[in-house]
Amino acid sequence: MRRPLIAGNWKMHKTVREASEYIRELNELPWDDSVEVAVIPPFTCLFAFWEARSRSRIRYGAQNMFWAREGAFTGEISPLMLLDLGCDYVLLGHSERRQIMGESDRMINDKLRLALETGLLPILCVGETLEERESGKAKEVVGEQVRWGLQGVSPHPGLVIAYEPVWAIGTGVNATASDAQDMIRFVRDIIQKEWGAQAAQELRILYGGSVKPENIGEFMVQDDIDGALVGGASLDPKVFADIINFRST
Ligand code: PGA
Repeated sequence: MRRPLIAGNWKMHKTVREASEYIRELNELPWDDSVEVAVIPPFTCLFAFWEARSRSRIRYGAQNMFWAREGAFTGEISPLMLLDLGCDYVLLGHSERRQIMGESDRMINDKLRLALETGLLPILCVGETLEERESGKAKEVVGEQVRWGLQGVSPHPGLVIAYEPVWAIGTGVNATASDAQDMIRFVRDIIQKEWGAQAAQELRILYGGSVKPENIGEFMVQDDIDGALVGGASLDPKVFADIINFRST
């Protein structure tokens, strides 16, 4: 059985003080411990999570990292720095980084290999644009992103993949649960071919794109959907807790 993972991607929101307040509030709300909860805040807020770690049930990670351990890379953050702040996860290949920052599959693969080598668990984000979906290329694009992202990587049970169709991110228009299930099954089949049946059964694959308390239940009943990567709806701890408690919402 794969343990559900609900991860909140704060993107470029919140100060350290706001993060500390959020951590306190979310920890005070009841949630079902069979669900793993993670928050992916901006780099600066990681300090608040590290500081609260002994009294917090929230796992956490960064939104990006660089592909080298250290060196003359002004403005970049090393995976070793993230580990130093107690991060478990690192988001890699989010569509905003692919599209706005021009990150290529090659860069993402370099980062992913170093993340695993140093002990961080990557959440690899993949997903097609609206044009790619409308021209019938969604699977081809997502398949390439998965294969590229995992090139040269041996099976790793802690790795997570997030399928986030670009047209569903921040738009309020989510994919239907059956379309998301169909794509996520397709991704699991690729993992099975590359890594074998056991690894494919163990690997968690999330859906992301306009997830909210009202639609999380539809996704979570699908066979292959193991959780969600939540953007906007993760910014308020009460709304995020309603998503985490999808079994009772
Ligand atoms: P959204 O963002 O939930 O606001 O659509 C999801 C994401 O970008 O991870």
